[in-house]
Amino acid sequence: MPKIHVIRADGSARDIDTPAGTSVMQAVTAAGEAGIVAECGGSAMCATCHVYVDERWAARLPAPLPNELEMLECTASERGPTSRLSCQIKVSAELDGLVVRLPERQQ
Ligand code: FES
Repeated sequence: MPKIHVIRADGSARDIDTPAGTSVMQAVTAAGEAGIVAECGGSAMCATCHVYVDERWAARLPAPLPNELEMLECTASERGPTSRLSCQIKVSAELDGLVVRLPERQQ
């Protein structure tokens, strides 16, 4: 099963087993992490699932769709060059080891 490496805003980190086909948002919230709110439940309509994807991984993700790009304008923590909505990142075997950093705040 793919693992994702999640770095919290305070710098602590953990690996989370993530079944293929699951979104990063679903995996992180199911693991009990507080750093993702996911108010809209994964519909790309809230931006409270914002993450910073590690630079080494960012280019390996499918490009964001226009609705994701639009919502990334509304993040509570500053948007960065590798910012993504975690609900729009589906984990696959190719993404085993994906590294994401949680922002300081989501609201
Ligand atoms: S959960 Fe709302 S945009 Fe991702």
